[in-house]
Amino acid sequence: MADNMTDLADIFYKDNQLNFALGQPDYPIYPKQIMQFMTEIIDSQNSRLHQYTMDQGLPRLKSILVKLYSHLMPTVNIGDENLFVTTGSSAALYCSIKAQVREPGDRVLILDPSYPYYSRIVRSVGGLSVSVPMLVDPSTGRWLLDTDKVERVMKSEKPCAIIINTPHNPTGRVFSESELLCIANLCKTYNVFAICDEVYEWYVYQPNKHFRFASIPGMFDRCVTIGSLSKWFHVTGWRLGWALTGDTSLVNAIHETHACFCISSSTPIQEATARMIEWEYEKLIVDHSVEKIDHANQLSLSYWTETCHLLSEKHEKIAKILTDFGLKPLPVDSGYYILADCTELSAKLNLQSGTAFVTWLSRQGIQCAPLAMFCANNDDSQRYEHMVRFCFIKSDETLRKLSERLDFIKRTIVSQVSNIQ
Ligand SMILES: Cc1ncc(COP(=O)(O)O)c(C=O)c1O
Repeated sequence: MADNMTDLADIFYKDNQLNFALGQPDYPIYPKQIMQFMTEIIDSQNSRLHQYTMDQGLPRLKSILVKLYSHLMPTVNIGDENLFVTTGSSAALYCSIKAQVREPGDRVLILDPSYPYYSRIVRSVGGLSVSVPMLVDPSTGRWLLDTDKVERVMKSEKPCAIIINTPHNPTGRVFSESELLCIANLCKTYNVFAICDEVYEWYVYQPNKHFRFASIPGMFDRCVTIGSLSKWFHVTGWRLGWALTGDTSLVNAIHETHACFCISSSTPIQEATARMIEWEYEKLIVDHSVEKIDHANQLSLSYWTETCHLLSEKHEKIAKILTDFGLKPLPVDSGYYILADCTELSAKLNLQSGTAFVTWLSRQGIQCAPLAMFCANNDDSQRYEHMVRFCFIKSDETLRKLSERLDFIKRTIVSQVSNIQ
């Protein structure tokens, strides 16, 4: 059974498995414009587009990102010097965490469950992860953030940084403005730097709203906001991301580390991304004004707006498929992951944990991920043993196959076991 992301990636390439474990699309959901831009770049006679560019990032890409973020956070003064383009947002995370962990054993606070790369990076740069577990409210199924506990841990462990991931992987939770204001106050009080992973920001379902931590007065200098081409336009193999911060000494530190492993990021990919964001920026502004003026307007929507609608429809489909199978899906505010409680079904099948359930389901040709692997603190993994994660950025055909296969399993294996009991 896969117990880390690399193993999940290996499984992805095996035939005949329906893979809902790994966080990537299985069909061309990316915008067709980005492919057109890339083709034009490959065909163009401009040889500079195929050579090294500036370490900090291609000026055209930096310029549109600065314009976009300035539009999204009008009260924040953002310049070119605040942005660094990296090879995937994973590299932005790595460089940002490394810059904060100055002494061996420096603590980084992580809210569990969490994207596994956080604790992996903290470990690899000599730091120590301390975690605050989030728990599910049994009456609503919603994940609760215990800010009192965050304060206690900040007081006792004195972390140098906290990682705030909103919209959140794996829970799909979007943190509210008041939760983020509270964390911002704690960061100020205890002098903790915030590493804000907001890679899923475009895929927040109505009526939820994405709130940008950096837009809180006084926080732009005390945080770094991380974005990702993998999540913005669903070309995970292109490997591009960026870090935005008011702390220019952090930009220098990111530069120092990033230049050591790749000098600069891929020039043609940055150029295609710049053109795509420029295109999207125009649409986004139209969409926003359309929303305000006329809901019935037929103007074509931005890729982000359309894809967000699409994902929320896929979310409804998969939630129904999983419920019909006997799992208990939790509510989702955003993104393309859904968690489901497998306690009842596992009990019927005489399986002891979510991990055992995942192994059992993979034998039936369906891959999902145990929530227990999304923990910075191994002690927390016990709390999450009864839940599994499905990624649903999959084609309608794959979702249909999931429904058919689960229906078959339910009618055959599950009902037989239930009859015996
Ligand atoms: C929360 C989160 N942050 C960062 C990443 C890394 O993305 P990238 O492909 O940009 O390195 C992922 C990938 O799944 C993720 O889920």
